[in-house]
Amino acid sequence: MTGFSTRAVQTGFTPDPLTGAVVPPLTLASTFVLKDIENSAEGYDYSRSGNPTRDAYCSALASLESGEAAKAFPSGLSAEDTLIRILTKPGDTILYGKDAYGGTGRLFTWVLPHEGRTTLRIDTTNVAEIRAALEQTKATLLWLETPSNPQLEITDIAAAVDVAHKAGARVVVDNTFATPVFTRPIELGADVVVHSTTKFIGGHSDLVGGAAIFAPNLSLGHQGLSETDSVVEEVGWWQNAVGCVPGPFDCWLAHRGLRTLNARVRAANASAQKVAEALTEFPLIETVLYPGLPGHPGHDIAARQMGGFGAIISFIVGSRETAKVVCENTSIFRLAVSLGAAESLIEFPNAMTHASLAATSDAAPANLIRLAIGLEDPEDLIEDLRQAFDKAGRA
Ligand SMILES: Cc1ncc(COP(=O)(O)O)c(C=O)c1O
Repeated sequence: MTGFSTRAVQTGFTPDPLTGAVVPPLTLASTFVLKDIENSAEGYDYSRSGNPTRDAYCSALASLESGEAAKAFPSGLSAEDTLIRILTKPGDTILYGKDAYGGTGRLFTWVLPHEGRTTLRIDTTNVAEIRAALEQTKATLLWLETPSNPQLEITDIAAAVDVAHKAGARVVVDNTFATPVFTRPIELGADVVVHSTTKFIGGHSDLVGGAAIFAPNLSLGHQGLSETDSVVEEVGWWQNAVGCVPGPFDCWLAHRGLRTLNARVRAANASAQKVAEALTEFPLIETVLYPGLPGHPGHDIAARQMGGFGAIISFIVGSRETAKVVCENTSIFRLAVSLGAAESLIEFPNAMTHASLAATSDAAPANLIRLAIGLEDPEDLIEDLRQAFDKAGRA
């Protein structure tokens, strides 16, 4: 098999034999001419059921995540919702991390219990706690997010998979923050990887998308609605049945993002390390949460599990008021939700990405700021934060 970057650039298509075009074509067609009433000409009949642009992108993504197959979704949350419906049934218990993206928290706190699943937040950085919770609840699914959003907690994927599989539970890993450039959870034993492709995979803040990538030979353990026990086939059947598929242009953009993923993520990671180190010297910052700092509680696991520490940094300041002044006074960092793109972003999770949990005991800390490091010069980013903190110091 060729290397990661070669596959990122080349998997999923070959130059168009008619024109020689070196990038994948964008097939916008919603419908395809059939050979006869029972057979399609090239395997496609209607774009909800399948689309060549989507398939090209999915084969590249599966290759980069070392999976058997990938399925694309209209958003990260849509991928999460579909996976959970297929991997669990009403009455099941699902364990997930105490620090997780706010939209995931909303899904697990309100939607899934409404549909008869029990969800339990645990400290997934503590393998003994995972083991105990699996024993107590007989959970069938363990949902991991590492590094987690927004507190950058690190879970040891291989250790968590080991205890979960011994207890008969499956493991899904949200790999949005690490990306397959830095962590490939399927190689560490995970059953399914999920992404918000809105983030690093798209990479340019111009699409909303999600994806699920499946370990080889995943079986449902029973016959699904698709009349097979294959998880991949069941997900495809379900997507067609309920219509949770992305449009071809979003797939095309995400596939374009994959081709430069390696270079973008590595550049942002190098800048993030510099920004995080600089922030440790800022007098108004109490704690910098970045797995690349030796004092981070997950540093050793991250150093083993990740090829780089990522481009997201969070930090704790003295008060919500200080956080507000800093967030509202940067000029290079844009005050916006999301992450993983060319431009650096700053946000206040408690009132922004995690606002849906603000009134609950799972609220993001009210003095935590999250940075998404982009592709600008790190010196400019540090200077921008310094002047915002100067304003906060005078406020
Ligand atoms: C870690 C993580 N997972 C999932 C999601 C949800 O993805 P989307 O916004 O594409 O639905 C997000 C969104 O911010 C996220 O940060």
